[in-house]
Amino acid sequence: MKTNQYTQSDALFQRALKVIPAGIYGHLGPAGGCAVPPSAFPKYVSRTKGAYFWDLDNNRYIDYMCAYGPNVLGYADEDVDQAVLAQMQQGDCATLPFGNMVDMAELMVDTVTSADWAFFAKNGGDVTSLALMVAKAATGRSKTILVKGNYHGVAPWTQKMGAPGVVPEDVANNLYVEWNNFEQLEQLVEQHKGEIACFMSTPYWHPAFVDNQLPAEGYWQKVRKLCDKHGIVLAIDDVRCGFRLDIRGSDHYYGFEADLICFCKALGNGYNFSALCGKDSLKDAIASTFYTGSYWLSALPFSAGLATINKLKALQGDELMRSQGTLLTQGLRATGQKHGFNLVISGEPSMWYMRIANDDSLMLHQQWVAECVKRGVFFTNHHNLFMNCAISAEDIATTLDVADEAFSVVAQRNPHALIA
Ligand SMILES: Cc1ncc(COP(=O)(O)O)c(C=O)c1O
Repeated sequence: MKTNQYTQSDALFQRALKVIPAGIYGHLGPAGGCAVPPSAFPKYVSRTKGAYFWDLDNNRYIDYMCAYGPNVLGYADEDVDQAVLAQMQQGDCATLPFGNMVDMAELMVDTVTSADWAFFAKNGGDVTSLALMVAKAATGRSKTILVKGNYHGVAPWTQKMGAPGVVPEDVANNLYVEWNNFEQLEQLVEQHKGEIACFMSTPYWHPAFVDNQLPAEGYWQKVRKLCDKHGIVLAIDDVRCGFRLDIRGSDHYYGFEADLICFCKALGNGYNFSALCGKDSLKDAIASTFYTGSYWLSALPFSAGLATINKLKALQGDELMRSQGTLLTQGLRATGQKHGFNLVISGEPSMWYMRIANDDSLMLHQQWVAECVKRGVFFTNHHNLFMNCAISAEDIATTLDVADEAFSVVAQRNPHALIA
């Protein structure tokens, strides 16, 4: 197989470094730590369609990062883009909202089991921060319990004490528990009786750099009971899992109902908006908060969202991504085994995490991912990957061929590391 060159991408990145901090900042850039070694990864995209993107040097990739989640139906989905184009003829950002905002809220309430209302913003972090405000407004309490390792965005309260720009006051009201440790949560609630406004967590544990973990049997049901007993708002951050596990919400998937649920990534197939949904009991509290943004009520994303959710329902996209993800991950594991690699897969099949476990340093994994990327299968290291509805059986077969060759390159380079 030929391996990719990144001449145009690298040249543009050099220009970017002069005028943009870090060239490409955050998780999409080499500074994010998931594209290691940076030389193995393209830096810019030139076009997208379905399961693929093409980089600036015209190399094509089967993309298992899906823009870190938003690409759920396939890039440039015709139904979504047609809906957006039709709305574009009428306008986007105006002094008043367009009527499709109400259509979108109705669709969320009809679709998501725990939703009695929907409030729209732009980014995932907008609605995780809003969830805490709502919980504090409703309870009159200050503290939040979070799960160690969970990501909720970049607002100062979500960051670690000691991170550049974060001061003690930013995180003073956060308390932390281990994932799946109900006894620890119970103890903390007891210690801080009457002080906890909110328990916020992702539906399962999907941090970067570690094997992901599903909820233990009965965990969420016990958490629900505990929150009810102590008047604590139970908020689910479904920004990443939302609509990939279950169109009715990931709380529904795991058999409970949250009080608040945050959505973003898959909501509009890449068109830009997020949503906080919640129970009637919190409707007055959210209405009492002052929270808005210049573009939050613009109309194009709502048209995209309506088309996206309706198409996901028609395709049974959650089941499709689960079954395709299962096929792919089973195939990857077996291909690794053939070459002497133990590829450990964790998380949910539509959003799996993988790691070559032959060495503790994760260097073999980085080598293998680099060889896949250079051959047109876009994975990143140490972050969960994503399925989308446009990935075909043929794409999966191509991916397994590429993975096979990449494993054989890494095996030849590291014979001492192989499992007999
Ligand atoms: C679970 C989770 N919560 C919140 C966020 C923040 O979303 P955004 O980057 O859109 O602010 C993310 C983004 O990756 C996320 O995965």
